[in-house]
Amino acid sequence: MSLYQATASAPVNIACIKYWGKRDTKLILPTNSSLSVTLDQDYLKSTTTSRADPSFEKDQLWLNGSEDEIKPGSRLETCIKEMKRLRKQEVEDKDPSAPKLSTMHVRIASYNNFPTAAGLASSASGFAALVSSLAALYALPVSPSTLSLIARQGSGSACRSLFGGFVAWEMGTKADGSDSLAVEVAPQSHWPSLHAIICVVNDAKKGTSSTSGMQRTVETSPLLQHRIKHVVPQRMADISKAILQRDFDSFARITMQDSNQFHAVALDTDPPIFYMNDVSKAIVALVTEYNRIAIEKTGKRKAAYTYDAGPNAVIYVEQENAKEIVDMILQYFPDAAANFKDVFGLYANDAKKGAVI
Ligand code: ADP
Ligand code: DP6
Ligand code: CO
Repeated sequence: MSLYQATASAPVNIACIKYWGKRDTKLILPTNSSLSVTLDQDYLKSTTTSRADPSFEKDQLWLNGSEDEIKPGSRLETCIKEMKRLRKQEVEDKDPSAPKLSTMHVRIASYNNFPTAAGLASSASGFAALVSSLAALYALPVSPSTLSLIARQGSGSACRSLFGGFVAWEMGTKADGSDSLAVEVAPQSHWPSLHAIICVVNDAKKGTSSTSGMQRTVETSPLLQHRIKHVVPQRMADISKAILQRDFDSFARITMQDSNQFHAVALDTDPPIFYMNDVSKAIVALVTEYNRIAIEKTGKRKAAYTYDAGPNAVIYVEQENAKEIVDMILQYFPDAAANFKDVFGLYANDAKKGAVI
């Protein structure tokens, strides 16, 4: 075994204000800021081991046990190159006795404990874990925000998985991307009663990847232009305030509005993109009815759905209402029952077992 090896894990994050659109596809600079919640370490996560050795003849990566080619000019290549550059700059140039790991090739093995490329944010946990494992291997004395600049160049949403809790990706204004990074809005401990229920509707690989889908949206959707100029900036401010005040009703309203607008923008793309299916829409109807009753009784919402680029629902809920909503989902989708889990306070149906709703 090599002397130089490190392992790191990163959880997925699920956006409340969605990133959808790039102003620079090479550096991965977004057309709008976004905000997400990073889920508990122990459920949907990527675990990555990186090893450096003078005998390795090239950089190599295995994803879930099969080799994934590192193509020249690819995002993987960029991330690895940038991490080696930081190793040289932050460690080897400052301490001449430090081993010259930046000159050695690396072998990287990564595993996702949930479906890859199915709209459950594997690119987010995947690139965050990759960057974290290389940062550990290289003993880099840098902040999560600095690492987020590199994870961003692997997959935009990955920059937000370098932090736990509530995280904003500030779009930045600079052409070199040096101010397009993740910052913590609040740690998970700020609002520990907020739970996420993951409803796996379909765990198959999606038809349109996030990367190609959002590029087509940027090129063809007039609605996207309205969204990035006139909608997202106010929503970023409003949801940050709601989080800081633990105001679930506002958090829920903004989260659902933004999920709806993201899917409207996908539909406004030419040709259109449909990520939600009939089961996704049935879950929207269920949560809407649940909230209607709650509003009638208390004036406040009790649940918030959100969908990324796929049919799977994530429902944010306060802990005290989690059982009620899980029971309601099970009543309408009884097949899900066998696979529902309560893992570390996070309710989820088992993504590994397939389409269960
Ligand atoms: P998702 O909705 O799962 O994020 P994307 O289309 O955004 O789907 O990204 C999927 C791609 O992310 C995969 O095809 C792979 O290239 C990359 N990816 C996923 N998991 C990992 C990982 N653990 N390590 C490195 N790259 C990964
Ligand atoms: C709908 O980060 O997967 O999940 O930057 O091209 O890799 P690339 O795309 P990716 O897009 C995520 C889109 C989203 C919304 C979000 O996570 O903010
Ligand atoms: Co992704």
